[in-house]
Amino acid sequence: MLAFAKEIIVDAGEILKHHFNSPLEIKTKSTNRDLVTQADIEAEKFIISAIQEQFPNHAILAEEHGEIGISDYIWLIDPIDGTTNFAHSHPMFCSVIALAYHNEIILTAIYDPLRDELFSSEYGKGAFLNDQPITVSSNFTLASSVLVTGFPYDRATNPKNNMKEFCKIMPQVQGIRRSGSAALDMCYIACGRLDGYWEFHLNPWDFAGGVLLVREAGGKISNVDGSNWSITSNNVIAANKELHQEILEVLNHD
Ligand code: IPD
Ligand code: CA
Ligand code: CA
Repeated sequence: MLAFAKEIIVDAGEILKHHFNSPLEIKTKSTNRDLVTQADIEAEKFIISAIQEQFPNHAILAEEHGEIGISDYIWLIDPIDGTTNFAHSHPMFCSVIALAYHNEIILTAIYDPLRDELFSSEYGKGAFLNDQPITVSSNFTLASSVLVTGFPYDRATNPKNNMKEFCKIMPQVQGIRRSGSAALDMCYIACGRLDGYWEFHLNPWDFAGGVLLVREAGGKISNVDGSNWSITSNNVIAANKELHQEILEVLNHD
């Protein structure tokens, strides 16, 4: 199943590359900041058809098409994670596919088509970038770390918009990035390009695959309040084990 996921996510990347930097039909969804383009729809349709052909009894939860079917196996799909970047011809986005079995993520494939970087993992078998093993960073203190985070689309009206947390942690770290792709943020944690990540108000297709990847790369995952992460969580802290504790403490103390 992982080989299948890797193959279709790379094929979906061809669809993204075809549309990138070309005129796009851009529509809005939940807020006027939450975008969808014809590339999101086309790539998602392609991935859904491939899954339905190969695994007709499996269920799907896809960002643009919602829930399809009922099964112990659920494929999570984000055809473009980083749609705002994509719509602005900003080269930071990826496609994500993850498979859950009995609500545990068992495999994931995340593909950045512009850099030809394929992140993959299977439960208990490690994390990989283009088939080479990856591990989280060994920066254990906030002062030596570069973190990454994101802000929800409804940040103008939602009081839990991460601004307070951002302001608390910013003075203590070497730097903070906002890439615009939660999935790539977690890939970069898994391979040590970034040290720690937290975010609120995510959907399972944004980050469930990244959770497995970071764990398999030796990192620690929890909800922002320190409780155990599950597939129904909508927030996360991801980092190496030592830094995870540091981030947890800062985010949860006034
Ligand atoms: C978004 C990105 C972004 C995160 C948002 C997500 P989309 O996904 O992952 O980094 O901050 O919360 O919704 O809309 O580009 O698929
Ligand atoms: Ca997303
Ligand atoms: Ca998306």
